[in-house]
Amino acid sequence: MTKKDFYQAVAERRSRYSISPKTTIEQDKILEIIEYAIKNAPSAFNSQSQRVVVTFGEHHKKVWEIAKNILKGMLPAEAYKTTEEKLNSFQAGYGTVLYFEDQATVEGLQKQFPTYSANFPVWSQHASGMLQYIIWTAFAAEGLGATLQHYSPLIDEQVAKAFDVPSSWKLIAQMPFGVPTAEPASKDFMPINQRLKVFK
Ligand SMILES: Cc1cc2nc3c(=O)[nH]c(=O)nc-3n(C[C@H](O)[C@H](O)[C@H](O)COP(=O)(O)O)c2cc1C
Repeated sequence: MTKKDFYQAVAERRSRYSISPKTTIEQDKILEIIEYAIKNAPSAFNSQSQRVVVTFGEHHKKVWEIAKNILKGMLPAEAYKTTEEKLNSFQAGYGTVLYFEDQATVEGLQKQFPTYSANFPVWSQHASGMLQYIIWTAFAAEGLGATLQHYSPLIDEQVAKAFDVPSSWKLIAQMPFGVPTAEPASKDFMPINQRLKVFK
């Protein structure tokens, strides 16, 4: 990847809610991207706390079936309609990346470095976010659209059971992806000078 490709991908990574069950690249290439991202994403003290489950086909559908069943049981029928449409749009994709953080690693660091105890759960979330961002941006560079979803803790137990997830892995986020079928929504940008101070 050249520098220009990188900057372009940073701008082209958007939340793509409208996705199809198609892909622009082979499953092996998707897995290569995810492995590359897991290996190279930074983590506090190089603790490598990030964990991932990748689902395709029926497994991907299962993730969103779980979310639908749970939310159907929780929401009034009218409110569920809108939610179901949203969940169907995620299920309509090609796959879902599930992001976890290993709590045994986090707790190990807390014991090893008590001075920073309160920081490790926060840094673990940062590490997950960095991994999510690499994959999201790499997908965009390959013409795949994705969004970042948060249905935890509602779906955690059933997801763990369905995908044989170790008990120390905590679900952080879900990223459905596929070939985008619509342009992304327009996006407002605050003036940069309200967000950045420079001293030189
Ligand atoms: C930490 C974080 C949490 C987010 N959670 C959700 C979410 O739960 N559901 C969702 O649809 N989008 C979620 N988003 C996506 C944001 O709404 C989106 O990135 C933002 O509106 C900017 O749009 P863009 O992604 O198209 O650049 C999240 C983004 C971040 C960085």
